[in-house]
Amino acid sequence: MNTYNLGGHSGCQILLIEDDNGNTFVRKFSKDSDYNPRLKVQCEKQASFQGGYIKTPKVLNSGMTEDGLFYFDMEYVQGITLAKYIQTMEIGKVKGLVSTLVENLVPKSSLETEENQAMEIFSKKIKSLKSALAFRDNKVIQDSLELLEKHDWSKLTPTQCHGDMTLENIIVKNDTLYFIDFLDSFYDSWFLDIGTLLQDVQVMWSYRFQRDIDMNTVLRLIVFRDLLLEEIKKINADYVIEIYYSLLQKLIRIYPYTKDELTYEFLNKKTSLVLDMIHSLEQNA
Ligand SMILES: Nc1ncnc2c1ncn2[C@@H]1O[C@H](COP(=O)(O)OP(=O)(O)OP(=O)(O)O)[C@@H](O)[C@H]1O
Ligand SMILES: [Mg+2]
Repeated sequence: MNTYNLGGHSGCQILLIEDDNGNTFVRKFSKDSDYNPRLKVQCEKQASFQGGYIKTPKVLNSGMTEDGLFYFDMEYVQGITLAKYIQTMEIGKVKGLVSTLVENLVPKSSLETEENQAMEIFSKKIKSLKSALAFRDNKVIQDSLELLEKHDWSKLTPTQCHGDMTLENIIVKNDTLYFIDFLDSFYDSWFLDIGTLLQDVQVMWSYRFQRDIDMNTVLRLIVFRDLLLEEIKKINADYVIEIYYSLLQKLIRIYPYTKDELTYEFLNKKTSLVLDMIHSLEQNA
């Protein structure tokens, strides 16, 4: 049996394993026993995901190690992450990729406030954020919290949700997208997934530490974002503002964990832009 480390930042060990019969698969281990329930949810989300043309590595097996760590095995997808792929991909291919995402993730239904638990769940979340950030003398944070508190979250229909849909957690293989690294979330809705995607293609969060980010990459991210919003607008123009609210709550949730000045400044700048965006969308509504 041969094993190779696939890395990852979350602390969970990920191994590519080649068994004695020459079959390869990926095994992901929980980082510690406290994390077991969360990795189980990840495994369940992945196994039950229905994404049309969007795939996910098939879950093959799961179990516990002798040390009491949960693990699961999945198909190995020999491709590259979308975060990498987007840096060099043909720009003409971005449209196809965005269409696949939108067609398979964004429901065609109209935006109606329906009975759901969103208001209750979001109110609780925002309240706890407010107390965590109460002493921050920062207008961007306080203005954002005020907006988030007033927002009608019931428009965020509960649906299947990846939970951490960054460009790093999408693998591209032969023009097919595979979602990996699902995450349990406080609320499951596709709006939050697209908000997470915007965190990469609008805010460029994953690239924040790259000092001289390649202009070709920036250009592709901008094209990606514009096409994404355009396609979503075609389905329902009212979706766009909800996606920006989803992004805003994601950004505000990062503040309590922000330790260094550089990240703090970056976050402020970007959050302020998102706030402006929401204001102008609301004015034009
Ligand atoms: N089924 C798979 N097939 C091929 N590669 C995989 C597979 N699962 C994970 N990988 C590779 O391992 C990397 C880390 O995996 P994953 O995102 O699940 O881990 P993580 O520990 O949660 O990492 P992070 O915190 O960076 O998101 C992926 O970016 C990908 O390159
Ligand atoms: Mg990951």
